[in-house]
Amino acid sequence: MTSSGTTSPSAPEGDDARPTWNAAWELLLPAAAAPARQRGRMLQSAFREAVRSGRLAAGTRLPSSRELAADLGVSRGLVTEAYEQLTAEGYLRSDRGSGTWVGGAARAADAPRARDLAPRDPGALVDFLPGTPDLSLFPRAAWAAAHRAVLERLPHRSLGYPDPRGLPELRTALAALLARRRGVVADPERIVVCSGVAQATTLLGFALGERGERTVGVEDPGSPEHTALFAATGVRTRLLPLDEEGLAMGPLYASGVRVAVTTPAHQFPSGIAYSARRRAELLDWARAVDGLVVEDDYDGDFRYDRAPVGALQGLDPEHVAYTGSVSKSLAPGLRLGWLLAPERLTGSIVTRKRTMDLGNPALDQALLADFLTGGAYDRQLRRCQRAYRDRRDALVGALHEHVPGAEVSGIAAGLHIIARLPERYGPEPRLLEHAAHARVAVRPLSYYSSRGTEAGDGVSLVLGYAHLTPSDIARGVRLLAGAVRARGA
Ligand SMILES: Cc1ncc(COP(=O)(O)O)c(C=O)c1O
Repeated sequence: MTSSGTTSPSAPEGDDARPTWNAAWELLLPAAAAPARQRGRMLQSAFREAVRSGRLAAGTRLPSSRELAADLGVSRGLVTEAYEQLTAEGYLRSDRGSGTWVGGAARAADAPRARDLAPRDPGALVDFLPGTPDLSLFPRAAWAAAHRAVLERLPHRSLGYPDPRGLPELRTALAALLARRRGVVADPERIVVCSGVAQATTLLGFALGERGERTVGVEDPGSPEHTALFAATGVRTRLLPLDEEGLAMGPLYASGVRVAVTTPAHQFPSGIAYSARRRAELLDWARAVDGLVVEDDYDGDFRYDRAPVGALQGLDPEHVAYTGSVSKSLAPGLRLGWLLAPERLTGSIVTRKRTMDLGNPALDQALLADFLTGGAYDRQLRRCQRAYRDRRDALVGALHEHVPGAEVSGIAAGLHIIARLPERYGPEPRLLEHAAHARVAVRPLSYYSSRGTEAGDGVSLVLGYAHLTPSDIARGVRLLAGAVRARGA
């Protein structure tokens, strides 16, 4: 197909839910192939039928008469005539400069629109949603430059189906990055590029299920995502309690599970870093039960005022499966991450990745490889690190100022902190009511814990700050404290 078939026609005034006209394309072909005398009439009735049946939806922009004539192999005059006739009949509209489109005035109302079911903020003035980077820091200019550079140099063959593990240049670059920044023992042959930690977890779930693992242990409190993702692979989760050093060892041994899913660099959500002793104990456990520690390094890139804690995987690559992504460092919408599993699991993970989606999009992978090798990724991390440290400081400062007596923890790394509020702020349901009234969205720690609402009057909040400006952070804390005061806590 020539130009018109490959363009993405749009409504003249630009619409997010733009219909394309490709669905109607084949309806026109019989008319184009008809004997010359009937061709014009048939073309017009095929157009009418396409509009009536909805195959050509209201708002769809049509190719220029020259393009369509070339695509259909008919004379331009025939197409111009069809456009004019259908416009006269009201099926089409045209404007000088905007071209021709279907449906005219009814366009906006009639055009089928795709709904957006992406997670949304709940309409709050300030939303302390944890785990969200600042999307306005996405390095658009550098990404666009990399895009152009990659398109110019990428050989045609790289646009074919990729190695399901990922493009070799990306796996090589990731191996270097993970070794350098996180102390990961990274063999590029074993890295699997995937759609974020989420897909890495799913791949692991299937691979473990194939080996007969029916239940894996997860941290409690922990990320509800882990349970949901394993459940989707038919693997159950057992909640395992934490102590102040990380996953508590006694309950882990007693549980009988042979796989434990952990967030050792900055436990989600409590924010603790696993102690050196607990890291060693965890690996001893994995060796003793011939098991596996899954290391979700979801925000391991961001550390502020504590010594770097390398990845657990670096200490025992045959007993740790390491996962990470660009969701916190670049943007979650890129859906790009990686999985590095012990050799015994890699084969079935790669097979599963292939049957799931034949590999991640090649262009995105080439772009990330360019970003990593050219230094843009490190620059981005430094930039975010500075911004997020300032925001963390702003949050801690605002809490001290407006909520005297609040105790903060988990502040040395990551994109969120835990704030334990003084008793007068509790009990939890009342605090949440006050917050909702002030239109400040907060999540209690209990939301991530099987123990539920804290006993007594205590209440701890998981406060994400990375996506908020320092002034929004201060405003949110002020509003929350003000609402509690005003409503007579
Ligand atoms: C602890 C934790 N792990 C993993 C994920 C999913 O990350 P990804 O976007 O890399 O799939 C999240 C999502 O926020 C998370 O909170």
